[in-house]
Amino acid sequence: MLSEESINSAKILIIDDEPINLDILEEILDNAGFKNITLTSKPEEGVKLYFENEFDLVLLDILMPEMDGFNVLKAFQKREKYTEIPVLVLTALNDPSTRLKALKGGARDFITKPFSAMEVLARIQNLLEIRLSQKQLNQINTILDFKVQQRTNELKDTMFEITHRLSIAAEYRDNETGMHIIRMSLYSVEIAQQIDFSFDQCELLRHAAPMHDIGKIGIPDSILLKPGKLEEDEMEEMKTHTLIGAKILEGHPSELLQTARDIALSHHERWDGNGYPFQIAGEKISIMGRIISIADIFDALTSRRPYKSPWPVDKAKEFIAENSGKIFDPKLVTAFFEVFPKILIIKDKFQEKY
Ligand SMILES: [Fe+2]
Ligand SMILES: [Fe+2]
Repeated sequence: MLSEESINSAKILIIDDEPINLDILEEILDNAGFKNITLTSKPEEGVKLYFENEFDLVLLDILMPEMDGFNVLKAFQKREKYTEIPVLVLTALNDPSTRLKALKGGARDFITKPFSAMEVLARIQNLLEIRLSQKQLNQINTILDFKVQQRTNELKDTMFEITHRLSIAAEYRDNETGMHIIRMSLYSVEIAQQIDFSFDQCELLRHAAPMHDIGKIGIPDSILLKPGKLEEDEMEEMKTHTLIGAKILEGHPSELLQTARDIALSHHERWDGNGYPFQIAGEKISIMGRIISIADIFDALTSRRPYKSPWPVDKAKEFIAENSGKIFDPKLVTAFFEVFPKILIIKDKFQEKY
């Protein structure tokens, strides 16, 4: 419900070339308690004021020399959402054609001259109630939109946090710190940016990438933690981490989980078709999977593992270059080398703490 206070504080603009009319209207409004009245006898100035302020109501004379009320209405229409500010037209009695034309031009209501104070106030009151209620509603909607956005962001954050921690849980089984998934997902975002992925796609990749090896949860310790080389049958079982990962992540419409599933399934495929689990080749492999493949392998090579020391960066770089077109998509290898200085910064920033 609108208070009298808010109605009386409404901003009203009156445009009439006759100073006497302005005086009369001002007096009527003044006596009724209105506090924010702007008057002008110059229509051009009225238009200027209209655009510079956020009025709640305009009282507009039609018959004015030079610029008449119709032209003022026309000028008002250049304002975005001009229909939100009601215009009350001041017109002579028995003038249906003027009324029709004014209505078509955007006027909301009329006051006939000479004015009756009661009628003027009743019409102003009506229009202001609608205008102010609309404003109040808009404010409530803005607050609600903000709250919904805030809640959505919170939920999104929670979802990212949970998936991230799940990935760490999986990673902990064969890597002590979980730093690997942070580095490799940031490397992959650098590559994605370089090949003009949109911001949203990069974000998707950043959050989906950590789940690439989540299927390792299903690999027995005897294989996952074996210090020596894996036997052939053990290797075959190890390879199923791609399928297990996809199983864990599939069957939900969320874009994040679907992307994570594609990555889990495809990150060990090779450009030349000699990877696993499906031995698909080239662009048949999901682009996300192809990106992850470079980021994941580069990080594995340059990290310490129980069975090997970290490779020097140049040696790892050489390996990536040698396998362009074999393991890796050549276009992505080029992109990776283009962003290499940034890769090194990430590598430095997220070092393992031994
Ligand atoms: Fe993997
Ligand atoms: Fe990995």
